Amino acid sequence: MEPAGAAEAEGERVTSPERLLQELRAKGTLPEPWRDAVASVPRELFLPDTIEVGEEIVSRGTSPERWRQLAYDDVALVTQVNDGGATRADEYRLPTSSSSMPTVMLEMLELLDVREGQRVLELGAGTGLNACWLAHRLGSEQVTSVDIDGALVERATRNAAAAGYKPVFVCGDGAQGWPAGAPYDRVIATYTVPRVPYAWVAQAPRGRIVTPWGGSFCHYSYAVLDVVDGVGRGRFTGSPAFMRTRPSRPHRGFLSDFLHHLDDGTESATTLNPYDLAGDFDALFYVGLALPDAWFHLVEADDGSGEATLWLLADDRLSWAAAEYAPDCRKYVVDQYGPRRLWDEAEAAYRVWQALGPTDTGPGRPHGRPERPARLAGRRAPRRRLSRPTGGRTLVAGFTRGADAATGAPRGGQTRRRAVAQRVSSWRLESWSLRRTAETWDSTVLTEM
Ligand SMILES: C[S@@+](CC[C@H](N)C(=O)[O-])C[C@H]1O[C@@H](n2cnc3c(N)ncnc32)[C@H](O)[C@@H]1O
Repeated sequence: MEPAGAAEAEGERVTSPERLLQELRAKGTLPEPWRDAVASVPRELFLPDTIEVGEEIVSRGTSPERWRQLAYDDVALVTQVNDGGATRADEYRLPTSSSSMPTVMLEMLELLDVREGQRVLELGAGTGLNACWLAHRLGSEQVTSVDIDGALVERATRNAAAAGYKPVFVCGDGAQGWPAGAPYDRVIATYTVPRVPYAWVAQAPRGRIVTPWGGSFCHYSYAVLDVVDGVGRGRFTGSPAFMRTRPSRPHRGFLSDFLHHLDDGTESATTLNPYDLAGDFDALFYVGLALPDAWFHLVEADDGSGEATLWLLADDRLSWAAAEYAPDCRKYVVDQYGPRRLWDEAEAAYRVWQALGPTDTGPGRPHGRPERPARLAGRRAPRRRLSRPTGGRTLVAGFTRGADAATGAPRGGQTRRRAVAQRVSSWRLESWSLRRTAETWDSTVLTEM
């Protein structure tokens, strides 16, 4: 199928699917089976007139060149904030739909391992672009795509038609799957779930499920499950950052909305270097299993002191903790406030993780987090002043300084994540009993592949 719309020769060089192809090729993130789909489905047909990247809001009407350039950049573009409701300039902007980063879309499609002739269910239609990549490869009649937002479903249908595709777009909560179109060979979700709904397992009885998975603390993982005899088994891999399922979003807002009673915290000291926790992706993943309902934010000093504050913040906004890092210390000051002792919870989980022994590769992030919701957009988070730096030790690794696919750094995530999955399985078995129920995650067992 030919790309719809012919750009003038000059513009085409810089703002066409070919430019995106070049970028993906240069990064080594363009799998051959998907090359033709990326080349043939122009991303610009799927974008609204206003898109956001980081804190930049770009209107097609006033900045047509920038808008078109972004359309063919390998970046995630936010296409809706605050569920499409009116948003004041000073209001927090929660991204609620987007055109995902093409590299990440392709990574997921590779994990999905799609073959010709298969039927695919996508949860999270968004702009419709991913459904149309699938439709290009498999045929429109093989693809069903669900979104919880009716306005987005209508728009995705129009976008797809403009590009010459007709996958089935339907409105509903993806947690139910789409039984009318079952059975499917593949199920792909493009939002994060804290639990894999059993409907997905039931509707793909011999299929594969790929979904971003996790709670508030660390939702940077895919779960890849193969279904056999009514049970999905699989592994965690990658480090994507997707928006979360709408029915299960924690309170949103600026950091300042979560911080209160700053002078009333209970002070203690810890020997756990905040960077040891925040700088090790696998540790974060593991600790996230213990804190599915709290999140963290590391704020580094910009005064050259090398100091930093690691904030832990409960979704219910009742509890917070702050751990202060200072270079050359052996002990770190911790303040905790509220009914929960968030640092104690995180440290206890970290110590269990530590006791399990080293992973088979060193610390660092497998790759980037392009779609991490800009929860703190526009506001600088406070960093607490240190009262008493103590002891002596060196900085290990900065959370934001890990390897990144965008820079072509090696990924090497698979082996590590397999090790993590193993530990997670045993930890889950030790600490939580695996219940068998019809609807919940617990009926799908995560084991090493
Ligand atoms: C990252 S966007 C999807 C990108 C899309 N696949 C594309 O190609 O443009 C995530 C989408 O998931 C949708 N969503 C969130 N929670 C959902 C749910 N429980 N059921 C169905 N859709 C949901 C949002 O409305 C949003 O459009």
